[in-house]
Amino acid sequence: MENNNKIKQVKNICCIGAGYVGGPTMAVIADRCPNIRVDVVDIDKDRIKQWNDKNVKNLPIYEPGLAEIVKRCRGLNLHFSNLIKEKINNADMVFISVNTPTKKKGLGAGKASDLKWVEESARQVAKFAKGHTIVVEKSTLPVRTAEVIQGILNSAELDNDRDEISFDVLSNPEFMAEGTAIKDLEKPDRVLIGGDNLEAMKSLQEIYAGWVPKEKILFTNIWSSELAKLTANAFLAQRISSINSIAALCEATGADVREVSRAIGSDNRIGSKFLESGPGFGGSCFKKDILNLVYLAQYFGLNEVANFWESVVNLNNWNQKRITELIVKKLSGTVTGKKIVILGFAFKANTNDTRESAAIQICKDLIEEGASILIHDPKVIEMQIEKDLQMKQMKEIELSKEHKLFNTNGNWKFSKSLKIFDDAHAVLMLTEWDEYKNIDWLDVSKRMVNRAWVFDARSITDPSKMRNTNLNLWRVGDGTDQ
Ligand code: NAD
Ligand code: UGA
Repeated sequence: MENNNKIKQVKNICCIGAGYVGGPTMAVIADRCPNIRVDVVDIDKDRIKQWNDKNVKNLPIYEPGLAEIVKRCRGLNLHFSNLIKEKINNADMVFISVNTPTKKKGLGAGKASDLKWVEESARQVAKFAKGHTIVVEKSTLPVRTAEVIQGILNSAELDNDRDEISFDVLSNPEFMAEGTAIKDLEKPDRVLIGGDNLEAMKSLQEIYAGWVPKEKILFTNIWSSELAKLTANAFLAQRISSINSIAALCEATGADVREVSRAIGSDNRIGSKFLESGPGFGGSCFKKDILNLVYLAQYFGLNEVANFWESVVNLNNWNQKRITELIVKKLSGTVTGKKIVILGFAFKANTNDTRESAAIQICKDLIEEGASILIHDPKVIEMQIEKDLQMKQMKEIELSKEHKLFNTNGNWKFSKSLKIFDDAHAVLMLTEWDEYKNIDWLDVSKRMVNRAWVFDARSITDPSKMRNTNLNLWRVGDGTDQ
């Protein structure tokens, strides 16, 4: 390959994008490779300010174990800044780790990924890089995006005014999950490197080999690598839609989805992970990546393939609606003016991320139905909930009795404390935070209205702890007493 004699050992990494992936991924690389300088750059000044906050409790991302690493490495070989030009210029390897949300308008709107941030990053690299640079796709991208990036970089290579510059493009998708990001990054099931220049691929392999066993570092061609990432997310999401569909069937038939999961999960071929039924998958990626796959299939005329994967998203949307409808039904057909406590707003436990959280749609629907909802989450801030619900919170939840009777408009309020059960008609558990697992239901039942409901969409309550209370319990997928 013509670039091979230009590839040197990587000493300086620049990562474009200081988000949920760029931040933790680069922190772990810096921690495990003390001889490499890692610069994480972002256009967002506030985000960088938070990454540089002296108090690591104020980092923009909550992820167990992340603050400790940042504390160890920041200012030594891990740096956060807005100095995009300078850091690209110094780098031997540039990771592109920017957002790739679903397109809102134009061709492929609602399904295809919007690549404007990726293309802009590639243009920045083309403009500011020096010497030979290995460009690594870390963002999740549609198949053949590397071609687009290479095209942008090629135009810079051909610019006669620039000193010798050259590029290799690799795909290195990220498989970490939020909430367990550090664990996943430190002990990955595999690291995937897609490319067409073995020397460039080895250069990236060398970095991971600092802590990942070599047999876990897989080499593929670049298109397989891009497609494998979309496929992994689609398969994982498909399992959740599958188990959620069975949960509904369990409720209708008297079966218990936990027992069904255990029974099928003991089959080695099926495996026991990702079989927990819940309110529906959230997170910034599952829906977006499946829709991206659907778009690709449609583009290539594979309509049956597209329909198959689209049904995974459709089932998920249906599942969220089903929970709201069920609550309204159990609360005598109306929630108007009724107080409902929502436990958890993040899309899963151990993260402050709310993107595509099932809580968003469910809370919106309950408010629409006229409920007064009181939301608790240990890590999500009120401002984020306000953005997600597109509605300001009520100043005072304790409405006067008269107001309560005649108030038909739904509303919401946030509470930092868990002392929120007084006069509630229902509790709805949407995120599986540990602190919700040991609630004293006897005490809570005395505060709520008589014969109030607990709707456990995460199946984290122990029904035996409810037995001495006058609460009604609904658990997702539990048909044994419904
Ligand atoms: P994010 O929105 O948290 O972070 C992206 C960052 O990129 C933002 O801070 C944004 O300001 C910055 N950015 C955008 N354009 C830029 C530019 N031109 N120059 C500098 N900075 C720029 O997104 P994320 O969750 O980190 O996801 C990034 C990518 O990784 C996506 O493609 C996603 O699908 C993929 N991914 C995400 C996860 C996850 O758990 N969140 C896991 C695996 C893969
Ligand atoms: C997911 C994948 O697990 C990662 O491998 C991938 O890198 C990442 O997407 C990505 O590309 O962004 P993440 O979305 O962070 O990670 O979290 P998951 O643990 O996969 O959970 C996703 C959603 O599914 C959550 O809402 C979770 O509560 C739900 N879920 C998960 C269930 O309802 N049941 C399960 O059994 C597992």
